[in-house]
Amino acid sequence: MKVLIIGSGGREHAIATCVAKSKRVSKIYAAPGNAGIAELAECVDISVMDFPKLVSFAKENEIDFTIVGPDDPLVAGAVDAFEAEGLKVFGPRKNAAIIEGSKAFSKDLMKKYNIPTAAYENFDNPEDAIAYLENADFPIVLKADGLALGKGVLICNNLEEAKAGVKEIMMDKHFGDAGNKMVIEEFMTGREVSVLAFCDGTTIKTMTSAQDHKRAKDGDQGLNTGGMGTFSPSPFYTKEIEEFCQKEIYEKTMAAMKSEGRDFVGVLFTGLMITEKGTKVLEFNARFGDPEAQVVLPRMKNDIIDVMEACVDGTLDQIDLQFEDNAAVCVVLASDGYPVSYEKGFEITGFDNFKDKDDYFVFHAGTKFDNGKVVTNGGRVLGITAKGEDLVKARANAYEATKWIDFENKYMRNDIGKAIDQI
Ligand code: AMP
Ligand code: GLY
Repeated sequence: MKVLIIGSGGREHAIATCVAKSKRVSKIYAAPGNAGIAELAECVDISVMDFPKLVSFAKENEIDFTIVGPDDPLVAGAVDAFEAEGLKVFGPRKNAAIIEGSKAFSKDLMKKYNIPTAAYENFDNPEDAIAYLENADFPIVLKADGLALGKGVLICNNLEEAKAGVKEIMMDKHFGDAGNKMVIEEFMTGREVSVLAFCDGTTIKTMTSAQDHKRAKDGDQGLNTGGMGTFSPSPFYTKEIEEFCQKEIYEKTMAAMKSEGRDFVGVLFTGLMITEKGTKVLEFNARFGDPEAQVVLPRMKNDIIDVMEACVDGTLDQIDLQFEDNAAVCVVLASDGYPVSYEKGFEITGFDNFKDKDDYFVFHAGTKFDNGKVVTNGGRVLGITAKGEDLVKARANAYEATKWIDFENKYMRNDIGKAIDQI
């Protein structure tokens, strides 16, 4: 079987690593891929948003199965473009990916179907938003409606900050058209958990849980980033919470999307907050998390193609999804200065240290080849994942492995997974 993976980040490298393990796969292509994925796949230089070229490539090369990794192409209808040509493809169609593409849509869906989430109002003009804020309690959360690279969420401590936030999102259009609409939402406190789930439109099967660290600096200080590291499983996501979420969130969401004529096929990512008043949804994404995939997928026992194909075929109920009874930690190695400004183009050394070590992974995110060398080419450069029999071991292993890699201006957080010490 020939497989095409669309995307170029650490998440797609983690997906490619699983696909490469599948006994059913003879050849992998990636568009556009990266320097790490290139060890497993033939990388083709096609943009993730160039659907006509991607579809022609798939047809010409007789691709049997395509996996769409990132949010942008999913929300823009990549899956629809492949299906229109009779090609088999994993991911939600445009009318289902809207669960990530529009926060106003996902909030209204949750309200309509009684799925627990923070109280909110939607706005389509700045005047109404500001009038609402005049009487609101603070802190309060402003969210640009559309995709904004995970940066369209502002937590405002007072009216002044909130008014500046409305201006930034809706008037100055910092996040472009993503700010045509806005959600204003109750501020919640608690522990965050990410739960990814395979979905076939009817059945939803959750993977093992994870937790991300979004802020750039230790102690959750600094700016929001795409994610500085993850651990899996989350010990805060207890059996009891899981059972509650299964009934009140995951199954209800699948049924809600079906009732709306928007059957969700692919990976549904639920961002949860465990609050004192119960567990609530922070957000939905229509894809694997990055860097959640880098700790969840290495622990999956199933052949990923079997599971993804079952999602597309509507037979997920026949899959016994299984994860290893261990733990994994991923520490992101970034370029110093990320997420604001940073230099690129430095040679990366030490990859050989990961050879033949089954429990250690170096997932490429922002790298490229330059004259036969691998060099830094982004803010988040690599994700170093290690497994261990428990979270403490996995964390020690991951931090040990961060020492094996070297490049100029290497930066990482030193407290990924530290929260587990509080248990
Ligand atoms: P989102 O893109 O909706 O996941 O938001 C990004 C981050 O903002 C989340 O991971 C939370 O840390 C924070 N956040 C979002 N919504 C809320 C909320 N209602 N209360 C507190 N923090 C929030
Ligand atoms: N790690 C958060 C996300 O993928 O959106």
